[in-house]
Amino acid sequence: MSLIEQSSGSSFTISPVSDVIGAEVVGLDVSQSLDPETLAIIRDAFQQHHMLCFREQTLEDDDLVAFSSQFGPLEVYPEKGHTKDKIEVYHVANVSLSGDHLPAEDPTVIYQRNNGRWHTDSSYRYEPSLASILYGIEVLPDEAEGGGTGFSNMLAAYAALPDGMKAKLEPLHQVHSYADIRRLEPSIPPMSEEERDAFPPVTHPVLRVHPDRDYQRSLYFTSNTSLEIGGMTLEEGKALHRWLVDYVGHPEFCYSHRWRKNDLVMWDNRVLLHRAIKYDFARYRRVLRRTTIAGDATVMGPFWPEARAAAGA
Ligand code: SIN
Repeated sequence: MSLIEQSSGSSFTISPVSDVIGAEVVGLDVSQSLDPETLAIIRDAFQQHHMLCFREQTLEDDDLVAFSSQFGPLEVYPEKGHTKDKIEVYHVANVSLSGDHLPAEDPTVIYQRNNGRWHTDSSYRYEPSLASILYGIEVLPDEAEGGGTGFSNMLAAYAALPDGMKAKLEPLHQVHSYADIRRLEPSIPPMSEEERDAFPPVTHPVLRVHPDRDYQRSLYFTSNTSLEIGGMTLEEGKALHRWLVDYVGHPEFCYSHRWRKNDLVMWDNRVLLHRAIKYDFARYRRVLRRTTIAGDATVMGPFWPEARAAAGA
């Protein structure tokens, strides 16, 4: 545990919650803007732990946007109906914006179900998201099963791959398409033409190289949109996906966050996959609000000149 004494006289702690992912921040009120020194400490902890949980926060949508904006510009969602009072705040819930507990077949709930597949947010963009920030408003009671958020560390997962699989994945790209969520969940309403035009399918390398981490490699894929891998048939691509999905779920790469009301959880979409852990939608209400910090670069793959140079190729 690190105890951080602030120049204002108050203090907070940062404590790892597992060996692979995550730290808990206690005693820091993020509804106030962070001074440059504190912001630098939080950025460092985020880079080191990939996921931070700020406990006991009291935030309105405006506060969530203000806190999030300290880490970069925020994304605006492809579909307008999912946003609350602020266009940057995404409503992640099985409860309507007006507070009604929704039936399982409601599209808002189906999006929740789709979030149960391992994914990285906004990978359907040319420049995918840097981080997501999720605030717990209504969470499941302690005795309930599921309802948490699972995380898997793609740096650790890549490092532990057999050499043959590393070589197989090296040249591959996956197709990422927002519209293709409907292939997995056909009852999600179609996008408008304007929305579809704004989000055409894109591809990203399946191995991501991280210039901010000495060109370390990670896996980079998603299982909640398209399952195509360039150069493979759809069936071959799906089979590889199944293998990857099973592999990243191994406990040595994973940490599961059990929500407490007023938790604010921030994670790095460049190096983690995440998923909503299944729960009884009909029995329990779950309301979270999310902002997403935009990325500022396309995904670097192993064949980029800088990545090749770093690998001594
Ligand atoms: C998300 O995938 O953005 C939300 C995850 C969750 O609902 O736990």
